[in-house]
Amino acid sequence: MDLWRAQTDALRSRGPVGWSKKSGGHWVVVDHEYVRRAALDWQTFSSLHDTSGECLIAKGIGIPPLAFPLILSESDPPLQQERRKIEQPFFHPSEVKRWEPVIQRHVADAVEMLRGRGRGDLFSDLAMPVVAKTVFELVGIDVDRWTQFTLSSASAGADLSGEIDRVHGMLGEVVAERRRAPRSDIVSALARGEVGGRLMRDDEIVSMLSALVLGGFDTTSGLITCALIWLDEHRAAHAQLRADPALLANAMDEFLRVYPSSLGVGRTAMRDVEFGGCQIARGDRVFLSWAAANRDPKVFEAPHEVRLDRPNAAQNLSFGAGGHRCLGSGLARLMGRAAVSAVLEHLPDYRIDHAGLQRYASRGVVRGWVAVPAVMT
Ligand code: HEM
Repeated sequence: MDLWRAQTDALRSRGPVGWSKKSGGHWVVVDHEYVRRAALDWQTFSSLHDTSGECLIAKGIGIPPLAFPLILSESDPPLQQERRKIEQPFFHPSEVKRWEPVIQRHVADAVEMLRGRGRGDLFSDLAMPVVAKTVFELVGIDVDRWTQFTLSSASAGADLSGEIDRVHGMLGEVVAERRRAPRSDIVSALARGEVGGRLMRDDEIVSMLSALVLGGFDTTSGLITCALIWLDEHRAAHAQLRADPALLANAMDEFLRVYPSSLGVGRTAMRDVEFGGCQIARGDRVFLSWAAANRDPKVFEAPHEVRLDRPNAAQNLSFGAGGHRCLGSGLARLMGRAAVSAVLEHLPDYRIDHAGLQRYASRGVVRGWVAVPAVMT
């Protein structure tokens, strides 16, 4: 059983909010309704990561704090909304729909290559290239360069700080290029976007891009690989999905619910507050556990079971809630569905070598796989 599940089950047996001694001590919200309420109440539970010294208690969304600030995720309204508005049009459902043929093309290329070889890795040959190439085209980075922008040390135990600096350096070069020659892409929109009455600095734009490039990859590829691993282990469900493809959208929500790529997110209490029967003090750190909320037995019957036709699977909180709810959720769902559906249709007899599976070990709350070897005929 996952360690987080044992820990959150133990906390849940005592109430909606519990205390963890880890990382200097912090509250953990495990109840679906309380997680949602905290995510919506940004005035009490702030995402701000203060680097200017004006509000030293605000330590952002990482517990422990992130090594580099993510200025969109780690800010509160009104600045957060101003930043988000620049990217929002690119993620509108009608815009996302336009990317469907692009996603299908990247999926078809990956599936064709796997079929030709008869073996491969469902992370590095399918999930990662599909997600990375799609996000790159959307953001406005040359697709041919996608391997340079992914973290090459996505392997167990690696220290990623040098890798992140390298990727941020390259993102800075793309920003400089678009300032000289704008296009109709997200980088150019950020380069001309005003926040707080001024143009954003290059380092601020790099931080916004980093959330898209690094934040969108592992999470979405985690969704795809978790779904494919589970379906390999449950062949009756695999056959059921092949026979009834209309079930896939709900099934993907169920995979998101049971295997959230991001286990949760941190906030800082900005005032003393009684919450879930606990006295939370100003400055306390609070972890909103999407993973625990997704398995709240008050909301989901038999919460630890994957049920492809679960009627309320979409009530999962894996994309968060409130003003910071995931901007890329529509795109992530589309990529997830396209990849899993193509494997079921074109590589139906794929079998995963479970001995070769390897998890991320270095990504904190982000869960997923870096090696998913498989054979297929
Ligand atoms: C299965 C895949 C994904 C999952 C589970 C996921 C999860 C999340 C969660 C939980 C948040 C909220 C964090 C918070 O409350 O502080 C978030 C925010 C965000 N996500 Fe995703 N994400 C996924 C894919 C993507 C993709 C593909 C993109 C874009 C390419 C993306 C872009 C963003 C951005 C920009 C934010 C920040 C929004 C804000 O703070 O206003 N995500 N994501």
